[in-house]
Amino acid sequence: MSSKKIIIINGPNLNLLGQRQPEIYGNVSFEDFLTNLQHEFPEIKIDYIQSNDEGELVTKIQNCAQYDGMIINAAAYSHTSIAIADSLAFLKIPIIEVHISNIFARESFRHHSYISAHCKAVICGLGLNGYSVALQHLI
Ligand code: DQA
Repeated sequence: MSSKKIIIINGPNLNLLGQRQPEIYGNVSFEDFLTNLQHEFPEIKIDYIQSNDEGELVTKIQNCAQYDGMIINAAAYSHTSIAIADSLAFLKIPIIEVHISNIFARESFRHHSYISAHCKAVICGLGLNGYSVALQHLI
């Protein structure tokens, strides 16, 4: 049986994890976290994309139909981007939305996400562990 392929997509400013507002987002880089996650789930092929650019994210999302599942943290674009929401609506694969922080305990502009309606589940406030929980569910 071929192994499952999962894609993780991170949006703007998540390239700065570990340096950016560590009191909110922690002090571990996503690359370090991903190395550990891949060791924890050696049977899963985990691909990873990060972009600060909305159009690039839309194009990448459009090309994800071959994956068995997607974990997406669209970061600030979650709260603004109908274009990213539309690209997710096109996909038929299961999608889980993750936010590192508890967006509902923060400013009101973070309380709404355009992408949630196209996701099977939303996980927020568990730190980077949210990605592990999402992965466990998808597999
Ligand atoms: C975030 C929450 C967003 O509101 C914010 O713009 C981010 C990160 C999170 O993971 O907690 O950049 O998606």
